[in-house]
Parts: sequence; structure tokens; C-alpha cells
Amino acid sequence: MSKPILIDTDAGVDDALALILAFRSPELSVKAITTVAGNVDVKKCTRNVYRLLDLLQVKHRPIIAEGARRPLRAPLLTASEVHGPDGLGGVSAKLPPVRNVKPENAVETILRLCRRYGKRLSIVTIGPLTNVALALKSDRRTVLRAGRIVSMGGAFRVPGNTGPVAEFNYFVDPDAAHAVLTSGVPVTVIPLDVTHQVVVMRSEMEYRARRRASDVARTILDITKDYMLYHRETQGFNGGYLHDPLAVGVAIDPGLVRTRRVHVDVEADGTYTRGMTVADFRNRTPRSLPAVEVALNVDRDRFLRLFHDRLWM
Ligand code: BDR
Ligand code: CA
Repeated sequence: MSKPILIDTDAGVDDALALILAFRSPELSVKAITTVAGNVDVKKCTRNVYRLLDLLQVKHRPIIAEGARRPLRAPLLTASEVHGPDGLGGVSAKLPPVRNVKPENAVETILRLCRRYGKRLSIVTIGPLTNVALALKSDRRTVLRAGRIVSMGGAFRVPGNTGPVAEFNYFVDPDAAHAVLTSGVPVTVIPLDVTHQVVVMRSEMEYRARRRASDVARTILDITKDYMLYHRETQGFNGGYLHDPLAVGVAIDPGLVRTRRVHVDVEADGTYTRGMTVADFRNRTPRSLPAVEVALNVDRDRFLRLFHDRLWM
């Protein structure tokens, strides 16, 4: 039986790959997609979700809901230099125009699904955690009914990607990240420690897209082009990290990563350390305080096999 999931996304380039992976995975049943400001503003994120569902010709449409326009406290920082001005590598104008954009409300949708599916529900967050934090604020007991949150974010034993110590999603809304990671909901954190180990090279994308030669394959190539050029300029390889697809991969197959259970705080006020994930690997934190599972190792080859098998179906 497929697992009901809700995906909370800031609908950038790797988010798009994550959504394609989710819709092409029979182990999952995507019941809702909620959008949040992050890579680009939330209205663009919502439109991108509609665009991707059209592209994939999804028959049983999930609920689409729009969420927070800005982080809880910090001003919004976007990443359009990585994901393009539209969030989809600057190519959305080439895609068919979206019609009937009538999203529901993200916080209400999160709460509704927690009530409906309880422990069976996984929430996969691939953007800042603002929506989930707002849902917790509005009705904590209901969110505690969810089975698990798989959250892409954080950097534990590796440098950050938004400043020296912070990862983008948790940097954008550190208050929300802190609220969710210390809420007591079962959370699996998918940090840069593991997402930097899953890389796809441009040459491989081109090779696979040529063999597949479908509209979806061509669009995947278009969307990822500038994302990969950005990595070539800043990281020295012509390819891209699969941050968000790995979070979906873990929802499909939790055994893809090895985790450590640890108490994690997220620095929200630090002058130099905003968004930093502070983990007590010494295990001195009282057991009464909530802990989360932090992924520190990934079975890279198994994940990449899964990713490519599904992406180029
Ligand atoms: C995360 O930041 C975003 O730009 C990506 O979509 C991913 O969710 C990686 O740090
Ligand atoms: Ca994202």
C-alpha cells in the first residue's frame, strides 16, 4: 500500500526534481502539496507547482495549497541566483500557461491531513519550515498526530551553503526550524552532510534525456541548465546537488540513510551563526527533551539508481 505524503516546497529546481520523483514512485501517494516562500516568492512557487503537475499530466490531482509569504520573524531571503527569477531556471515562459490557480490554505491543509491520516502521514519538507511551524502554533496536538516529518535542511559536520555554517532552508527561517525540530514530532533531518554526497552531472542528464526523448525529459534538461551552470561556477563541477530529491527518496525508502538520534537546536539570533544546526552529539541533553534523527550517511549508489530509474521513466 502506498504511503500518504504531503510535500511542503519552495518549488525551485531541485524541488521540481523531487516532485517528479514523488509522483513517479508507487510507494507514495501525494495527497497535498503546500508552498512556502524560499527560493522565490510564494506566488511563484504555487504557479510552479501547477506547471509541474500539468507537465506530468497528474490524473489524481493532490490538494494544492499556498502558505507563508515570509518567514516567522526574519525578512525573506530568496535564491533566485541559483533557481532563476521564476524558480524554474528561467524557463517557465516556455511551459504552457497555468490556468485556474486556486490554491487552498497551507496551514489548514497540513492540519486536515494530520487529522485524516494520523500516524500514516509523512510530511516531506523541502523548503523553509514556516508552514509547519505555523501549523504547530495553531494546533500543536493535531500536528503531533503525524507519523513523521522528513525535513531537508541543516549542516552538521560540513560547512553551510548560506554563509559558513548554515544551510539555506534553515537559514531562511531559523525560528521555524527550531520550533519544528524541538516540537516532539518524529523528524528525520536530511542535511547537507548527505545531500552533498548525491550529485548528478550534466553529461549524465543529457545522455539520459537523449535516450528518453520525451517532453518531460526535455523540460527537465531545460529547468536544470542554469542550476548546473551555477554549480560549475561556484563548486567547480558541471552538475547539481540533489538535496530535495534525497528527502523524497528517504520517504520512499528510509533505509537509504543511516541516522543518529540527537537533540538539535537551531540558532535563530546569532550574529554570525543564524540558521546553524547545533547538535548535542555528546548526548548530555536530558532525555526528557525532544530528539530528532539526523542523517549522516547515505547509500549514494542506491539512491542514484532509484532517482534515475524514476526520473527518466
Ligand atoms: C535547499 O535550499 C534550496 O535552495 C534547495 O531547493 C534545497 O531545498 C538546499 O540547501
Ligand atoms: Ca527546496
